[in-house]
Amino acid sequence: MKITFSQPSLPGKGTIVAGILEGKKLTPTARDLDERTSGAISKAISASRFTGKANELLDVMAPAGIEAERILLLGLGSPDKLDAASAETLGGTIFGHLGGSGQKVAAVAIDGIEGGVVDAVTVAAHLGFGAELAAYRFDKYRTSEKADQKPSLAELQVMVDDAAKARRTFGPLQKVADGVRLARDLVWEPANVLYPETLAEQARQLADLGVEVQVLEEERLRELGMGALLGVAQGSTRPPYVVVMHWRGSERGANKQPVAFVGKGVTFDTGGISLKPAGGMEDMKWDMGGAAAVIGLMKALAGRKAKVNAVGIVGLVENMPSGTAQRPGDVVRSMSGQTIEVINTDAEGRLVLADVIWYVRDRFKPRAIIDLATLTGAIIISLGHHNAGLFSNDDALADRLLASGKAVGETLWRMPLGEEYAKQIKSDIADIKNVGGREGGSVTAAEFLKKFVGDTPWAHLDIAGVTWSSKAKPTVPKGGTGFGVRLLDRYVADACES
Ligand code: BES
Ligand code: MN
Ligand code: ZN
Repeated sequence: MKITFSQPSLPGKGTIVAGILEGKKLTPTARDLDERTSGAISKAISASRFTGKANELLDVMAPAGIEAERILLLGLGSPDKLDAASAETLGGTIFGHLGGSGQKVAAVAIDGIEGGVVDAVTVAAHLGFGAELAAYRFDKYRTSEKADQKPSLAELQVMVDDAAKARRTFGPLQKVADGVRLARDLVWEPANVLYPETLAEQARQLADLGVEVQVLEEERLRELGMGALLGVAQGSTRPPYVVVMHWRGSERGANKQPVAFVGKGVTFDTGGISLKPAGGMEDMKWDMGGAAAVIGLMKALAGRKAKVNAVGIVGLVENMPSGTAQRPGDVVRSMSGQTIEVINTDAEGRLVLADVIWYVRDRFKPRAIIDLATLTGAIIISLGHHNAGLFSNDDALADRLLASGKAVGETLWRMPLGEEYAKQIKSDIADIKNVGGREGGSVTAAEFLKKFVGDTPWAHLDIAGVTWSSKAKPTVPKGGTGFGVRLLDRYVADACES
């Protein structure tokens, strides 16, 4: 769908979306339309329960007196609550209603919102952004879909006085949307198509945007001593890769030292010899959601030319059972030198991340490391699907991330760390073991990762509950959410760019 910005005018076709404020208060555009249609709008409102609360909708079909075919009344709520995030929701709500309505174009008129927390340009740009995120669908494998099952809406015109400024504000948001779409695509893609080699190839494409991409092959991983990652990979016929993506948007002053983003990229997680049950195992195609978020983030940062020195790194493996697979009880040596007893081959994400985190720290000396991983089922038990788990050794970093998450609606909930939890992963044969029992499973997993970060400020986001959604939200359709791209783009904008 195309998003365009133009100065207010009366559209000659399609749908005109007019705002109504809380308490049935007509905006100037709504009032004008009401006059032109001999009161059709007031009549429609009084014939319904529509009050103008945010995201309420009311169709006024085929109104006489104007050329447009439909009027859609959109509740704006109260103007002092209308901010960038709620404007995105409005955009998503509009697309949700009109996307498959048969209408091809819609023009949105939102005026009469003076005195709100953000200006009309911000509302316009974020409304367009929300509509764009809502319009996402993964339909490449639907071969028999009829035309009337596909979205009809091809263009959303957002009308605002300073259209040129809205277009400029929208520019970087569109680049972020590109990153979110890429992350969602990668999460949706099945594991027979997306495996370590093809995912590495997807990351390699970022070179077109000026990202330096380096793909480390199995032989190199062996030379580096990444025994923990290689142990996970050894059951699969598909070789593992580690991909380093370096965006050098700023290498001066305080921004010299890079910030590092690390992603778990298990392209399919059967559990290995500690095999998972069959029910729901198909979900494990999205066990690379952390890597998808990192790749999508690098696309967003490069796309909008962020003034930051950022390294993205992903560990790509497939976790399979086979005659060559690692066994429960095996002891592996990580790149850090620490030995690990593999109690459960299904706790594989932490083994992959251990070596990737160590490597990025060793090579780039980052000022902060943020990892994203669909790491534990336990985090879903703790937080459901409404927050990702945040674990950190640095309060300032944690607070920053909590704030960024809130601002973009990808929220985090901070979880504890602590010596008592760390004790749960002591091993009788090696330095540590890869599981610490059922109790506090997400925390012991984070404690495991902590063994590899040294004194670098670090945050771990357990995104197992938020990478895939089975319920659509206004700006997040069902399926791959792209969680993490918007959050970390915002974190970079607020905390890392000069
Ligand atoms: N990829 C899973 C975690 C997961 C579960 C992600 C459900 C998304 C939805 C991870 O590799 C895993 O299997 N974790 C185990 C750890 C256990 C063996 C200690 C788990 O959570 O059961
Ligand atoms: Mn697993
Ligand atoms: Zn996994």
